Amino acid sequence: MLKESYPYYLANEPVFANQDLEVTNKYSGEVATRVAKADAATIDKAIAAAENAQKAMTAMAPYQRKAVLDHCVKRFTERADELAKALCIEAGKPIKDAKGEVGRLIDTFRIASEESVRINGEVINLRISERTDGYQGMTKKVPIGPCSFISPFNFPLNLAAHKVAPAIAAGCTFVLKPASRTPIGALIIGEVLAETDLPKGAFSILPCSRDGADLFTTDERLKLLSFTGSPDVGWALKAKAGKKPVVLELGGNAACIVDEDADLKDAIDRIIVGAYYQSGQSCISVQRLLVHKNIYDDFKQQYVKRVAELVSGDPLKEDTFIGPMIAESEAERLDNWIQAAVKAGANLLCGGKRKGAMLEATVLENVPADADVNAEEAFGPVSVLSSFDDYDTALVEANNSRYGLQAGVFTRDLYKAQKAWDVLEVGGVIIGDVPSWRVDNMPYGGVKDSGLGREGIRYAIEDMTETRLLVIRTP
Ligand code: SIN
Repeated sequence: MLKESYPYYLANEPVFANQDLEVTNKYSGEVATRVAKADAATIDKAIAAAENAQKAMTAMAPYQRKAVLDHCVKRFTERADELAKALCIEAGKPIKDAKGEVGRLIDTFRIASEESVRINGEVINLRISERTDGYQGMTKKVPIGPCSFISPFNFPLNLAAHKVAPAIAAGCTFVLKPASRTPIGALIIGEVLAETDLPKGAFSILPCSRDGADLFTTDERLKLLSFTGSPDVGWALKAKAGKKPVVLELGGNAACIVDEDADLKDAIDRIIVGAYYQSGQSCISVQRLLVHKNIYDDFKQQYVKRVAELVSGDPLKEDTFIGPMIAESEAERLDNWIQAAVKAGANLLCGGKRKGAMLEATVLENVPADADVNAEEAFGPVSVLSSFDDYDTALVEANNSRYGLQAGVFTRDLYKAQKAWDVLEVGGVIIGDVPSWRVDNMPYGGVKDSGLGREGIRYAIEDMTETRLLVIRTP
């Protein structure tokens, strides 16, 4: 299903330099393919190529950049099955979720194609006093320059696309480091980009080890760093990034409030997906569930029954809901957090068993606030239940976190919805659905330890362009 080996892409060209990176099938644990791994000298060449190509990239007309993005939409659509299976193998992503991610990849490139021809400036009224009479101003957006992108393992296609597609729309060259556990999705994006008329050197896609990858962060030829991944790594990179602006899309321990007026069946249907799809390995996975005391017992009984019924197993099977976590070490870490919470007094309502990288869908209650499984990002198939008496207290509790990415609130009361929007310290409030909901043109990003800046094509293009002013004096 995967090819025997994959190249890296250096200055738009595939290079089968070595086969040093083994990519495993995350379900079987076997080596699925091998990938060329870039070293520091290669990364240096890629950055030089991106710097050289920037002039030609800036000179491309918007309709030409649009043609590149349209080609990607067409080719990803044609290769959708292959892409979904690649995700299934390299990330252990259940096939339904993998197909969903391919759909989103196509959306992301389509949105970028549309945005590429509407990157506009504005006319500014400068005649604010006698001194400035006769002057007028206008702005345009120019590419910021070569960009550095580091993308994570949990959405190997779409979270790389959220960097690559707006960069092409904005006219920026780039170097991309995909997650070394899941580089194949990004390399197939590279294969498709290599079919286009992007100027030579415009892109490089370089799987490499983290210790060899310093240049992605420190090199001053790179004018923007956009990183998606874990909070600890992200904030450490920012400290080393020098003068370049940094966009950080980091983690969270998202709260979801279920108020007493919620439609219980609908809320449970949505929360099951929000908490457990792709084994909870999403930064906006439902982790902390706050349920009104008047519906708590009903909710708990129905929810736990449904979670216990989730089918786990081979991600290639259509009915599999819970696949493996990305690595046994990650499943072990979360298993330890669950055991520690239970030791500290939590009730295990279902799940909690682990075999290798397969961790059962788990629900806990009475978890101490400072237990890791509540206070830190679980990034796995676990949710923590608690009840509240009063809506305002639930909002305070939802904010009781060092993170702030998205929050979900099930209420049908407009005033409570507005209050959530006013009070919750997050990048996005989702009413009537889970925090895990995302469509690819919305602004997406967090506050507090969850990050800096927003993605969502138009918002990413803002970061990837500079405003250049023109002033005209008419004597
Ligand atoms: C993430 O894990 O940050 C991305 C979630 C998504 O795109 O749905």
